[in-house]
Amino acid sequence: MPRDLCRAGDAIVFNDVSFSYSNGFALSDLSFTIRSGELALIMGPNGSGKTTVLKLMAGILKPSSGDVYLCGINTKRVKLSEVAKYVGYVPQNPWMAFFNNTVFNEIAYVARNIGLSKEEYEARVLEVSTWLNIAHLLQRSPHSLSEGEARRVSIAAAVTHDPSIVLLDEPTAGLDYLNKVDYVNIVQKAVLRRGRTVVMSSHDIDLLTLFPEAKVILLNNGRLSFNGYIRDLLSRAHLLLSNKLLPPAAIALSTYLNELLGIGAEGREPSVEELIERTVLRKDVIGELICS
Ligand SMILES: Nc1ncnc2c1ncn2[C@@H]1O[C@H](COP(=O)(O)OP(=O)(O)OP(=O)(O)O)[C@@H](O)[C@H]1O
Ligand SMILES: [Mg+2]
Repeated sequence: MPRDLCRAGDAIVFNDVSFSYSNGFALSDLSFTIRSGELALIMGPNGSGKTTVLKLMAGILKPSSGDVYLCGINTKRVKLSEVAKYVGYVPQNPWMAFFNNTVFNEIAYVARNIGLSKEEYEARVLEVSTWLNIAHLLQRSPHSLSEGEARRVSIAAAVTHDPSIVLLDEPTAGLDYLNKVDYVNIVQKAVLRRGRTVVMSSHDIDLLTLFPEAKVILLNNGRLSFNGYIRDLLSRAHLLLSNKLLPPAAIALSTYLNELLGIGAEGREPSVEELIERTVLRKDVIGELICS
């Protein structure tokens, strides 16, 4: 599978995919496409199947029925080691995947194992760790890192071999808003700008406002409840609520103001400035409401 193939057309295709664990949980008949160079968010409440979907994308799990195609290749027909060349997977808990004695060895692991020369993988480790501001940690034990450092190291470990597709499981869990913004900048710089396809799983609704162009795949109890773009999802606040996702604050305020005064921005995310401007324009009505 030449890598360039993965940088055009469809990067990931789920075709009627179903999957069951022995305890009976099932993903049922999932069909969707993620195009090359696209950023996609897999969203849904706890236990809805987000990690399972990412593991199917990483080739770690194979569908019970249906097919998963990565860059046109059916994951059932190739070994995991082959899939690993094209996919970088950042697990939900970064420490779960660390098994090397130094950060350097952790970051170099996949690149070394898919056959890059020592010269090549050393240069890549240095490049990636400089982007991610972790070059000073290379000789540390991965188990001695702070959570933020560990998350950066696990991204580095997933992208050093230059995969076309990067999968990030709950990347912003436990980060405050400013660290999320910082994280978004890392993703833009280290991942998206290099033309990669990026898939993040999350139930963090802030990602909808931080990545407004993203494709969203919304899961509920293993079924697809939305497949489209953020602008279409945000106009359906009820869909977010019925999937136990609270709309971002600006959207909630807009929906409320729209219902009360007809001044929200239907169908898309309004800026705070826009809301203030519209509120000021209708100050007469607001005055009447306050007085009544
Ligand atoms: N290895 C496994 N064996 C059996 N059941 C599993 C396994 N992994 C996950 N499950 C079950 O499958 C369902 C979906 O789990 P999954 O981890 O995909 O959900 P999730 O949306 O990622 O949840 P979270 O938001 O908590 O990360 C859950 O009911 C979970 O208990
Ligand atoms: Mg999960």
